[in-house]
Amino acid sequence: MTTFFHFSDFHILPKKGMTREEGDPCQKIEKLIETAEETGISPSFSIITGDISQNGSQEGYDIAKDYIKKIEQLGGPVLPVIGNVDKRETFRKNLLKESHNEKLTPCYYTKTVEDIQVIVLDSQNLKKVTGQLQEPQIHWLEEQLLNKEPTIIALHHPPFTLQLPDGLSYPLFKVKDELRFYKTIKESNTVAILCGHLHQSLITQRNKVSIIVGPAALSESLINSKVSKTYNASGFTIHTLKENALTSRPVIYSEERKLIKTTPITQ
Ligand SMILES: [Fe+2]
Repeated sequence: MTTFFHFSDFHILPKKGMTREEGDPCQKIEKLIETAEETGISPSFSIITGDISQNGSQEGYDIAKDYIKKIEQLGGPVLPVIGNVDKRETFRKNLLKESHNEKLTPCYYTKTVEDIQVIVLDSQNLKKVTGQLQEPQIHWLEEQLLNKEPTIIALHHPPFTLQLPDGLSYPLFKVKDELRFYKTIKESNTVAILCGHLHQSLITQRNKVSIIVGPAALSESLINSKVSKTYNASGFTIHTLKENALTSRPVIYSEERKLIKTTPITQ
């Protein structure tokens, strides 16, 4: 049995104490780490599914490194995933400790912890806010899956079109890449796909594989076809994997369910 933590969407600003309309990202992350500590759980590893430093600033990653150290002190390594507001050059240098700073090369890697293969993908699309997965990354993924080990795949963008309660839908990923992704993982032993980006705890399924979108540290969003409402809430997820059964417990914190803003959707 393996228990691990899933954080997402930190959106750290260049200075501690700096605020945006959703509040102070650092204060929210610190509160989440405290909440994680209060659980008394020592995770085998933790994943942060992207949007770590707002605009990929070096200062934001300096702060992120401190938080990553604190999360590591709870137990196990921390596996960062790149999001759409991160920047490949600074993300790679600071969080993956790789020396080259090629901004076009995606940041993907794998790590095995307690016989679970965790595959971290880079779904960043420099031209659009929707996700993508292209060659050679998808070919690399294919090779990693050949060993049939129990696998967790983590990427920032949810690889699906979001079905809205009012019947409309909201594309989150390049459709061609999404289809290729599911074809690639079809015969593998993928237990779950973990994502971020939506700022909402959400679960769906594709081809019997669970896709779990973790709540964000920064805020919570509720989207319908006309508006997106942003709330002052913050959360993370505790996942427990036993054999091939994953149990996911979102822990969402909000002193008051305060509506911050309502944004019209334009499609
Ligand atoms: Fe995002």
